[in-house]
Amino acid sequence: MSNDPLIPTSSPWPGLEEARDLIAQARSVFVLTGAGISAESGVPTFRDALTGLWAQFDPEELASEDAYRRQPALVWEWYQHRRALVAAARPNPAHYALAALAAQKPVTLVTQNVDGLHQRAGSEHVIELHGNLFANKWLNGCGRCDEATAIPGDPPCCSLCGALMRPGVVWFGEDLPRVARFRAEHAAETADLCLVVGTSGLVYPAAGLPGLARDHGARVVVVNPQPSALDQTADVVLPAAAGACLPLLWPQSGTETEPD
Ligand code: APR
Repeated sequence: MSNDPLIPTSSPWPGLEEARDLIAQARSVFVLTGAGISAESGVPTFRDALTGLWAQFDPEELASEDAYRRQPALVWEWYQHRRALVAAARPNPAHYALAALAAQKPVTLVTQNVDGLHQRAGSEHVIELHGNLFANKWLNGCGRCDEATAIPGDPPCCSLCGALMRPGVVWFGEDLPRVARFRAEHAAETADLCLVVGTSGLVYPAAGLPGLARDHGARVVVVNPQPSALDQTADVVLPAAAGACLPLLWPQSGTETEPD
């Protein structure tokens, strides 16, 4: 039983004490997060962002290079819409808890999310497997691309070669960024605890990382209020919402404000 006054004496979830012990004993932690960790921040998932005017579209009609080449203004506008939704959201206690954990032991934080909320909660060196919603890059640029003034509603394009600017996220049919994937795999192979938060575990290669960690000797803890494809990989499954559960798993720093 825990002597920590912040922890209720009867744990709200079976497995909480075991997970706390595993995390306390770990020398290094590999964390994989997915859309669920941002649910309590009100960040709409990829599919949730297809409401209102956007409800008529299939995500695959919008999040691919083909789609962008066919309808650049439409796809750019959808990303601007998503950027506005995420900008209005705030990190939640789960994001802050992970930032606090990194102050206590070596943590590699790998996310499938593109919302930047881990960084806004103070986590550093976050590995973004699927890119970042607020980043831009050139679509087949000339190498010397220079932004031209965009026509309102249209995506910016290069004044030298005409290449389109595109969001810095991984689209359907694209590979993960190589360095991010390599660093994530290396961290999974070397950590002695793997903490999986808020992912359905259905989208590869990210979904393979907890298994890779386990194959290299890590213990695995999953936090997800619903069953997930990664439950069978886990030593402990906590059927809990991340924002309620993570702050109970290790001591917190008490600061929950976005750094400047
Ligand atoms: N706390 C923890 N987990 C939660 C919470 C919560 N409060 N709310 C929901 N979840 C869980 C759900 O039960 C689900 O298992 O989060 C998971 C979200 O699953 P997905 O929407 O499939 O998100 P993710 O696993 O991140 O998807 C991977 O697929 O849509 C693409 O590229 C996109 O990065 C994304 C990838």
